[in-house]
Amino acid sequence: MSFSKQTLAARHAVDTDQHHGAVMPPVHLSSTFSFKKFGEKRQYDYTRSGNPTRSHTADILAKLEGGAGAVITSTGMSAVTLLVNTLKQGDLVVASHDCYGGTYRLLNFLREKGIIDCQFVDYSNEPALKEALDKKPKLCWVETPSNPLLRLIDIQSVANRCGPETKVVVDNTFLTPHGQQPLSLGADYVIHSTTKYINGHSDVVGGTVIAKDPGDYEQIAWLANCLGITGSPFDSYLTLRGIRTLELRFKEHCRNANAIAHRLRESSLVDQVYYPGFGSPREEQLAKTQHLLPGGMISFELDEACDIEQFVGQLQLFSLAESLGGVESLIAHPASMTHAAMPAEARKTAGISDRLLRLSVGIESLEDLWADLEAAFQNCLSTKPTPRLSQGF
Ligand SMILES: Cc1ncc(COP(=O)(O)O)c(C=O)c1O
Repeated sequence: MSFSKQTLAARHAVDTDQHHGAVMPPVHLSSTFSFKKFGEKRQYDYTRSGNPTRSHTADILAKLEGGAGAVITSTGMSAVTLLVNTLKQGDLVVASHDCYGGTYRLLNFLREKGIIDCQFVDYSNEPALKEALDKKPKLCWVETPSNPLLRLIDIQSVANRCGPETKVVVDNTFLTPHGQQPLSLGADYVIHSTTKYINGHSDVVGGTVIAKDPGDYEQIAWLANCLGITGSPFDSYLTLRGIRTLELRFKEHCRNANAIAHRLRESSLVDQVYYPGFGSPREEQLAKTQHLLPGGMISFELDEACDIEQFVGQLQLFSLAESLGGVESLIAHPASMTHAAMPAEARKTAGISDRLLRLSVGIESLEDLWADLEAAFQNCLSTKPTPRLSQGF
């Protein structure tokens, strides 16, 4: 029988405990496992290399993404580190110019040290992308929707243009397997910061790399142990608990965000709203074909009439914090927070202005969230109320 993703997640490893019949799989915190007898190992021997609780989490993520296997890492950045370590000295990585700031920082650091070569490209700039892919990179790094401008990249088209020497990686943190299925579109690896929607409760930092090909999976599983970057059993347990409700939560994040994005678009105090499907006609079409759901992230440019600090300070239901994907709503100012590691010039090229704000829309009541935003708009005008206000938000 084949089951839906929701059923698979809710039932994963349920009632598999042979000793006590525990319905929920126990957490195996032990760092080491005894040998059956001299020279005879059991399935697990040492938690850095393998752990039953971590395996449960890896197995369900591999199933949800349609991969051959998954490695659970200690953070999203260790998932990035893991893939970068599949490279040889001087290998070229092509990455989107507006990728997550931490990914940008790591790739740039390794390039400056002469360990790898790296080229950041605007994937919507056709000649630039062609020129980069013609160099036959070893990794083609795709982040779609991008952070924080939620620009879209056509995964299938990029994968089709890469030769067999190039592994295509998609950072699927923003959309989860319920919003987008990169492996089915031709990607070789999917990574996640599981810190975000996958765990979903802002109480774990973690990551995962999921490989489509069994050989690639073997390689990354070996490497993760070698590098010592596998996730802890307790974090894996919490993440597995989060995965059981991922689809339900993600649908609610999307429902709230979609409504707020449309309302923000009507506001006279918002200059531009970035939300998957809101871009060019090409992006609108791509959102329809590539996405199962649009996601819970919105970015927008606050109009000059508003004092940005005052706006953020007025909010009660959007905490000023980095990160995203938790049940609670957050607001971030990318230029001074998530993307501060990026040089100002690179931020400018990537289109990240100082008036840009990013929302991670949680699962609170939509009308409460909207009332909070409306109140903040009303109280953030740097000049005294102008007739624009009466047009509503
Ligand atoms: C898209 C994306 N990828 C990777 C990461 C890194 O994940 P972590 O913070 O879990 O190391 C983040 C963190 O914000 C992210 O937003």
